[in-house]
Amino acid sequence: MVFQDQIGGNTHVLKVGIIGFGFMGRMHFRCWRALAGAAVTAVCEADPHALDEAGKSRGNIAGAEGDVDLAGVRIYRDFDKLLRQEQLDAVSITMPTYLHPQATIGALEAGWHVLCEKPMALNLVEGTRMIDAARRTGKILQIGHCIRFWPEYAKAKQIVDSGAYGRVIAATFQRLSATAARKQHTWYANAEQSGGMALDLHIHDTDFVQSLFGMPRSVCSHGASAGPGGLAHIATRYGYDDDKLVVAEGGWAMMPPFGFQMRFHIALETATLDFDFQRDPKLRLSTAGGESLAPPCEPGDGYGRQIEHFARRVRGEDVPPIVTPDDAWRSLRIIEAERESVRVGRAVTIDGPETKEHDHAV
Ligand SMILES: NC(=O)c1ccc[n+]([C@@H]2O[C@H](COP(=O)([O-])OP(=O)(O)OC[C@H]3O[C@@H](n4cnc5c(N)ncnc54)[C@H](O)[C@@H]3O)[C@@H](O)[C@H]2O)c1
Repeated sequence: MVFQDQIGGNTHVLKVGIIGFGFMGRMHFRCWRALAGAAVTAVCEADPHALDEAGKSRGNIAGAEGDVDLAGVRIYRDFDKLLRQEQLDAVSITMPTYLHPQATIGALEAGWHVLCEKPMALNLVEGTRMIDAARRTGKILQIGHCIRFWPEYAKAKQIVDSGAYGRVIAATFQRLSATAARKQHTWYANAEQSGGMALDLHIHDTDFVQSLFGMPRSVCSHGASAGPGGLAHIATRYGYDDDKLVVAEGGWAMMPPFGFQMRFHIALETATLDFDFQRDPKLRLSTAGGESLAPPCEPGDGYGRQIEHFARRVRGEDVPPIVTPDDAWRSLRIIEAERESVRVGRAVTIDGPETKEHDHAV
């Protein structure tokens, strides 16, 4: 993953800040560090202990481990002070979810482009405020829906979109983790701060369903609760105009030795795609002709690839949008409908507003 400066004669090194230096802050740090033409010059972390722990992180996805070398990086405890003292090109906002809107709007108003982790906010009103701020300031706002960039998911979308194997008959997605047990004493366990399992974890698949098939007409969800975080497991059927069966299951009540798993199966008319994060090869294409193929995927992972994409946009390169703020807002909208469906015990129609206020992607 090397970011080459392709703007003729432009040798400006992007100055980047990372706001919140927990699991994802360290992940963004490593991804930024791996790019040529960018330098992390400032980090803001409220908890000094978190900086001491920087070398010991363990998350869902391998790659967050290892030492973090902060030599030469200016460290702040207070985001407002960083806002006053730094002159940056872009920031990664990797704070707990309930802090995303305030930090994002502050950074945009400081004149910086923002890559903010998913979910963009806890609710649609705050998501709208973030989009308005991006539009007002003319700065880029990209939300960290990294699954759209994950090589096997991106390849599957490319294959489905090509139509080479006919229409989708059924697609099922699954995402299971031990978050509830591993993070029971953190902000994750407080649904008012994290949004709970559906907004925090399952939204990855909700967002990918949206990217593959567009906005569903309805959702029908069933859920189970456990512990103080509320909803711990969910299964949703997404309704479209045709009869394809689209289902996603998410849960974070697995026990720590289980670790993490993400999977999908997509049944097309003349081929089957299946992905298993724990298998090699991860992505398989089984054809009607009897072949079992491993479609070639881009190297790296979704984290690095989304940061590379964001950096290209910050540089002014003409790259096709992969995730717009409106997309992220719509994924919040779908999750709200899924939670409502669990609550009322029946299917819920998604009848807008979907994009009315945000027709023009930032
Ligand atoms: N894209 C993904 O796959 C993925 C994976 C995990 C988490 N996330 C998202 O990333 C975000 C962060 O999650 P995490 O797992 O890194 O959480 P975390 O708790 O590990 O890290 C958050 C850090 O922010 C710091 N912080 C809190 N308030 C602050 C403040 N006012 N100023 C500066 N720092 C402050 C905390 O001390 C902590 O170190 C969440 O929105 C989460 O949903 C995304």
